[in-house]
Amino acid sequence: MKVSLVVNGVQAEADCWEGESLLFALREKLGLPGAKNACEQGECGSCSVMLDGVLVCACLVLAAQADGHEVVTVEGLAVDGGLHRVQQAFIDAGAVQCGFCTPGLVVATADLLSRTSDPSDDEMREALSGNLCRCTGYAKIFDAVRLAARDSSG
Ligand code: FES
Ligand code: FES
Repeated sequence: MKVSLVVNGVQAEADCWEGESLLFALREKLGLPGAKNACEQGECGSCSVMLDGVLVCACLVLAAQADGHEVVTVEGLAVDGGLHRVQQAFIDAGAVQCGFCTPGLVVATADLLSRTSDPSDDEMREALSGNLCRCTGYAKIFDAVRLAARDSSG
């Protein structure tokens, strides 16, 4: 089946089979490998993308469900070739080790800050509770969220 959607502001089409996930379509059909494939069960958040402005695990969404809808991936956060402030904050805070979880965390953090410009630690933990990192111990990740929040208010 043909799936037609807007990805990162650009109209796109992909030939998908009925059971194909949005994650597979993004990575393998549309050339967007930013969302990562780890658990494929909605457990790790490494595949996080925005679907019509709502944070979702792309591994749990059928490509067919995205037909006619709008998707933003981590690649779409960058503005005019420059990094999004959340992307920059993850670099500046040293919140990246292997980097596998980073795209999902960046998308989830951008979503959090779009709703809550100065989140409390509890709000950060709640918002990022669906994103697992095996490397960092989370301290640097929360530093990055605080840094991005400061950058938006400064
Ligand atoms: S790959 Fe989608 S939640 Fe883990
Ligand atoms: S940096 Fe390696 S899983 Fe998070």
